[in-house]
Amino acid sequence: MTPEDLSAPVLPGRGASDYERYLRTDELLSLQKPPEERVHHDELLFQTVHQSSELWLKLGTTEVDEAAACLEQGDSAPAIRLLRRAVLCLQYVTTQLEMLNQMSPWEYSEIRVVLGHGSGFDSPGFRRVPAVTQRVSKAFDRLLERAGLTLAELYQRGREHEDLYQLAELLTEWDERIWVWRFRHYAIVARALGEDTIGTQGTPVQVLGKLIAQRQIPKLWDVRSRLVELFDAERKGSAA
Ligand code: HEM
Repeated sequence: MTPEDLSAPVLPGRGASDYERYLRTDELLSLQKPPEERVHHDELLFQTVHQSSELWLKLGTTEVDEAAACLEQGDSAPAIRLLRRAVLCLQYVTTQLEMLNQMSPWEYSEIRVVLGHGSGFDSPGFRRVPAVTQRVSKAFDRLLERAGLTLAELYQRGREHEDLYQLAELLTEWDERIWVWRFRHYAIVARALGEDTIGTQGTPVQVLGKLIAQRQIPKLWDVRSRLVELFDAERKGSAA
C-alpha cells in the first residue's frame, strides 16, 4: 500500500487544494471588481468592508434565530452561547467601519457615482435584524412569564435566576451593539459625505442621526429607569 499524499485534494469542486475547494475561494475572490473595472483604487476597500459586513451579519442573525429556537424549547444554556457569538459579530462589523475613514471624501465621490441607487437600507444582513430580534425577545418574555417574574423583578433577584439574568443582559448587549454600530456608521457617513447631503436612495444623512435613538427591545432600557424609581421608593420607605 502506498502512503496517502496528504497534500492532494480529495474533496469535489474547483480549486487546486481542498482548502480552496472547501472554502470556494475562487468564487469568493471573484466577487470583488478586478482592477480594470474599478473606477477608483479604493473600490476594493469599499467592497471588502461591505461584503465582509454581510457575512458577519449573516452569521450573527443566524445565531440569534437559533438562540430563539432554543429558548422556545426552554433551553437557555445553548442560547446564551449563541447570543455571545452574535454580539461578537456586531462588534466586528462595527470595528471594520474604521477602514472606511481611510478613504478621502473627495475620492469617495468617484465610487459613489457607480453605486446606482444602492443603499444600506437594502442590506440583507441588516434587514434580517428586526425579525430575529423580535423572535428572540418574545421567546425570552415567555420564559420570564413561566418563571412568574417581571423584568424588574428579574433584575432585583438576578442571583436566583442566573440564566434569565444572563439572557436579559445579552439581549441588552445585542441591542446596544446595534445602537453603537448606527452611531459609528453615522459618524463615518458624516466624514465621507457631510451631514447636509442626500444619500443614493434619497435619504438625507440627518435621518441616519435620528435612527440612532431607535431601540430594538425598548423594555430592556425602560426597566433601568424603573429600577431607579423602585430603589428610591424602597429607600424612602425604609427611612420613614
Ligand atoms: C463610506 C461608507 C458609507 C457611506 C458613505 C454610507 C452612506 C449611507 C447613507 C447616505 C445612508 C442613507 C440611505 C441612502 O443611501 O440614501 C446609509 C444607510 C445605511 N447604511 Fe451606509 N454607508 C457607508 C457604509 C456602510 C457599511 C459598511 C454598511 C454595512 C453593511 C452600511 C449599512 C447601512 C445601513 C444598514 C443603512 C440603513 C440605515 C440604518 O439602519 O441605520 N453602510 N448609508
